[in-house]
Amino acid sequence: MSNLSLWQQAAQDIHWYQAPECVLDDSNPPFYRWFADGTTNACYNALDLQVEEGRGEQDALIYDSPVTDTKRRYTYAELLDEVARFAGVLAGQGVGKGDRVIIYMPMVPEALIAMLACARLGAVHSVVFGGFASNELAVRIDDAAPRAIVSASCGVEPTRIVPYKPLLDAAIDLAEHKPDSCIILQRPMQEAELQAGRDLNWAEAMASAEPVACVPVAANDPLYILYTSGTTGQPKGVVRDTGGSIVALKWSMKNVYDTDPGDVYWAASDVGWVVGHSYIVYGPLFNGSTTVIYEGKPVGTPDPGAFWRVISEYGVKVMFTAPTAFRAIKKEDPEGKYLKQYDLSCLQSLFLAGERCDPSTLSWAQDKLGVPVIDHWWQTETGWPICSNCLGIELLPIVPGSPARPVPGYDVQVLDENGEQMPAGEIGALVVKEPLPPGTFTTLWNAEDRYVSAYFSRYPGYYETGDAGYIDDNGYIFVMARTDDVINVAGHRLSTGAMEEVLADHPDVAECAVVGVADVMKGQLPLGLLVLNAGVERSADEIVAESIQQMRDRIGPVAAFKLCAVVERLPKTRSGKILRGTMRSIADGEPWKMPATIDDPTILEEITATLRELGYADPSAATVQ
Ligand code: COA
Ligand code: AMP
Repeated sequence: MSNLSLWQQAAQDIHWYQAPECVLDDSNPPFYRWFADGTTNACYNALDLQVEEGRGEQDALIYDSPVTDTKRRYTYAELLDEVARFAGVLAGQGVGKGDRVIIYMPMVPEALIAMLACARLGAVHSVVFGGFASNELAVRIDDAAPRAIVSASCGVEPTRIVPYKPLLDAAIDLAEHKPDSCIILQRPMQEAELQAGRDLNWAEAMASAEPVACVPVAANDPLYILYTSGTTGQPKGVVRDTGGSIVALKWSMKNVYDTDPGDVYWAASDVGWVVGHSYIVYGPLFNGSTTVIYEGKPVGTPDPGAFWRVISEYGVKVMFTAPTAFRAIKKEDPEGKYLKQYDLSCLQSLFLAGERCDPSTLSWAQDKLGVPVIDHWWQTETGWPICSNCLGIELLPIVPGSPARPVPGYDVQVLDENGEQMPAGEIGALVVKEPLPPGTFTTLWNAEDRYVSAYFSRYPGYYETGDAGYIDDNGYIFVMARTDDVINVAGHRLSTGAMEEVLADHPDVAECAVVGVADVMKGQLPLGLLVLNAGVERSADEIVAESIQQMRDRIGPVAAFKLCAVVERLPKTRSGKILRGTMRSIADGEPWKMPATIDDPTILEEITATLRELGYADPSAATVQ
C-alpha cells in the first residue's frame, strides 16, 4: 500500500468533525501538513468517543502509587467527567483555543486530566518533567508564554518529598512572562502556600466547576509543545499537531503494539517525556485501552518485584519502559526471584526504548519473561516509533542490538558526509526521507528557522535524526550513537552543551568540558572537567561540590551530575577545539587514536589520571592504537 493510501485509510479510523479530503499538503516542505482540511479534537477521540462506543464503564486509567500507598481506578465515564470539569476550571481562568498551559506535575492522574482538559479546549499544553529545576522551567515559561500553569504542592520520590510549589514560584520569579493563574493540586504529604490573586486550589476549583464540551480544532492546530534537549541551553519546543497525532497513535496501538480496545497497556515512564504523552496518555485512550499511571520506581518501591506486581495485579498485556529500568531490576534480582512470586501469564510483550538496548539486558528480559522483548527506536521529535518489530503486523526475528526495520511510513536511510547512500553494514548518519509520517513534529515552537536548520538542512530532502548507525543486509537498522552532544542518562535525554553552560557560570571556572561516559545502570552519566581561573586559591573539592550543586539547582536532579574534577588543562586541537570524543573514549576504556591535530599530547596523560581517580579509564582496558 502506498504511504498516502495507508494514512488515508488510517484516518478513517478516528473521529473527525469534518473529515479531511486532503491527505497530505506538501506544498511547503519541510512544513508538511497531514489532513490539512480536517477538523477534530484529541480529547473527544480519547474520551467522549469511547463512552459513545460503549466503554463508559470500562477502566480508562489505573493509578498505582507505591510511594504514597494509593491505588485508584477511573472508568472512561468518570475520567470524561473529571476532564470536562477541569476544562471548565481552565476556561474559567480565561484559557481558550490556542492558549498555552504549562503542566508541571508528578505522576498523578491529575496530570493526565490537565493534559486532556487542555486538548478539550483546543489549548496547547506543555508538560515539564518534575525532575527539572526552576531555571529550566523558567526557560520554558518564557518560550511558551502560558496563560495558566497547573502544578502540585509536591512530588514524592522514594527517599524524599520534592516540594514542587517553591520550584514553581522560583521559576515564575525568574521568568519574564507571568501566567495569569496557577492551579495547584494540594497533596497531603506536603501542602503548599497559595498566592492570593494568582493561585487556585485544584480541589476547590473543581468543586464548583461546570463541564465544558470539546472545541473542534483544525488537524494542524498544535496539540502540545514538548521541550527536549538540543545542542545549546535553549531547549527545542517540539510541536505536535492534533489530527496527525490521533491518526498515527491510534494506528500504532494496533499495528506496532498489537493492543486492542479493553487491553491494559502500561508505559512505565513519566508524563513529562514523549513516551508519557504518546503511550501513557493519548495512544491507549484513542484506542479504548486501559492505561496505567505508576508513581514509583522499578526498584526500591518497595523491591525489584514492583513491575511484576503491577503487571499481574492489573492484567497488563503490553508493557513499555526503558532498558535502564530492567538493568536496575537485574542488578538487584539477577535470578528473577521476585518474578516467580507473580502470575505474569497476561503479559504478551515488552517494548523497550529511550536508549540503545544492550543485548545482555534484552536476553535477560526475554529469558525471565518468556515473551517477545522488542527494542524500538524513536525520538521526542517523531512522537512514535521510527523502527520496530510491528507485532500487530508480523513478528520478525528478534536481532539483539537492533530495533528491527522501519515502521510503515518511515523511509530510513544511511548517508555519508556528502549525502551519499552508505553500503549495507557501514555506519553513517541515520536519516528519514521526507515527508515524515503523521504524528511527527510539525515545527519548533517560536523557532521555525531552527526547525529547518537543525533537522532538514544538512541532507536536503531528509530529516536528520541526530543518530548514527547502519542498515544490515536484511534491512535491520542498528542505532549506534548520537552525532551531536546529546547524551542519554537513564533514558532521559540531556545536552552536555547545556551542562557546560551551567559549569562555565561558576565564577572560579575558566573553562570546562562535559562528556557522557558509560554507566552500567543508567547507560550514560555526565562527567565534568573544570579548569580554574588563574589565582583561585579555594580548594578544588569546594569548587567541585558547588558545581555539582549548581547543576542540580539549574538543570535539576535528573541530570544525575555527580562526576566532576578539577584539571590543569583540557586537551585541545591546535585550532582550540576541546577533544571531548577522545576523553570519552579514554574514560570508557575504548580504543582511541591520538588526534593528529592535538596541541599537546601530554595533557591526555593528566586527564587519564584524573579519570582513573573518578573510577573511569580502566588501566586494563584498551588504550591508544
Ligand atoms: N521529580 C523530582 N525529582 C525527580 C523526578 C521527579 N519526577 N524524577 C526523578 N527525580 C530525581 C530523583 O529523585 C533522583 O534524585 P537524586 O539524585 O536525589 O537521587 C534524580 O532525579 C535522578 O532520577 P532517576 O533518573 O529516576 O534515577 P534514580 O537513580 O532515582 O533511578 C532508575 C534510576 C533506572 C530506576 C530510573 O531512572 C528509572 O526508573 N528509569 C525508568 C526509565 C524512564 O522512565 N525513562 C524515561 C523515558 S522511557
Ligand atoms: P528522546 O527524544 O528523549 O526520546 O531520545 C531520543 C534518542 O534516544 C534517540 O535519538 C536515540 O539517540 C535514543 N534512542 C531511543 N530509542 C533508542 C533505541 N531503541 N536504540 C538506540 N537509541 C535509542
